[in-house]
Amino acid sequence: MSESSLSRRSFLGAAGAVVAGTAITPSTAVAAPWVSRRPPAKPVVVASANGIRGVQRAFDLVTAGSDTLDAIVEGVKIQELDPNDMSVGYGGLPNEEGVVQLDASCMHGPSKRAGAVGALEGIKTPSEIARLVLKYTNHIMLVGKDAQRFATSYGYQVEDLLTPRAREAWLHWRANRGAGDDWLDVARDERLSLSTTGTINMDVVAPNGDISSITTTSGLSWKIPGRVGDSPIIGAGQYCDNDVGAAGSTGRGESNIMVCGAFLTVEFMRQGMHPKDAALATLKRVVEKTPPRLLGPDGRPNFGLNFYAVNKAGEFGGAAFGRSRFAVCDEQGARLVDSAALYE
Ligand code: GLY
Repeated sequence: MSESSLSRRSFLGAAGAVVAGTAITPSTAVAAPWVSRRPPAKPVVVASANGIRGVQRAFDLVTAGSDTLDAIVEGVKIQELDPNDMSVGYGGLPNEEGVVQLDASCMHGPSKRAGAVGALEGIKTPSEIARLVLKYTNHIMLVGKDAQRFATSYGYQVEDLLTPRAREAWLHWRANRGAGDDWLDVARDERLSLSTTGTINMDVVAPNGDISSITTTSGLSWKIPGRVGDSPIIGAGQYCDNDVGAAGSTGRGESNIMVCGAFLTVEFMRQGMHPKDAALATLKRVVEKTPPRLLGPDGRPNFGLNFYAVNKAGEFGGAAFGRSRFAVCDEQGARLVDSAALYE
């Protein structure tokens, strides 16, 4: 018996008891309105592994009554403001010209709204600017200098986001990028192998079942200036449907954009898949759509890509090509758990 039919019966039973003296019975009564008795959700926050501190912060906020999006913005800001996280916000690795360009997007399930910024320079917390786009405009994405001007109109300061550590990494990359250029190579043992894609995705389910999602990144290090990855793309870097769940991604953004991975994962959950199975099914689609130049001799992608997902009931899961972990916080506390691996 479904939850809703149970609810309706108990409602009619209660109505019959209250009006018994007037001889109105369920069979003669006008049909009662449907009463939604959805069980309370199991609150949970999931994130990429670098969000281990953020999931605890967001969980504390959302279980204390905070709005879902506000909670996860506070969660991801911990990484955005951390100069030692070289994949997100302040301290993120720059593009090939040594300029840090940041991407972020977010969705707020209850209000069905979205916001994003791409190639934003000089603002440490792109997650907050994406939320401003969501809250105060009829648009969804602002990019480049105009996104920066939008941020400064709200009082944000333009700052140099390139930390000494990120600058050193960039200088080493530039020195060693090719034998035929005019930059003298540095000694092999001095070389830093930090070329990477780094990102934080975070997704939350509140005790009342409301859902939000957010993804923020400094993108692919040493990228061509102006390159925008999947993180600010609604449906790729993250997606949320308040009736179903939320999903997001970290890793090679171009491969995720090709399958609209966050949207696809939520659609798989809408069809009834568990979040873990939905994330794995999306990764399989990525492999199907990967061109040969990005496959190794074993036929497997030669890049990394992870998906994270939660459903409305508070079930969660993650998936990666190989062994990987992601962050989760629920009533058992914050911890890293294994993602499902497409290739064992
Ligand atoms: N997933 C982050 C990026 O590709 O920029």
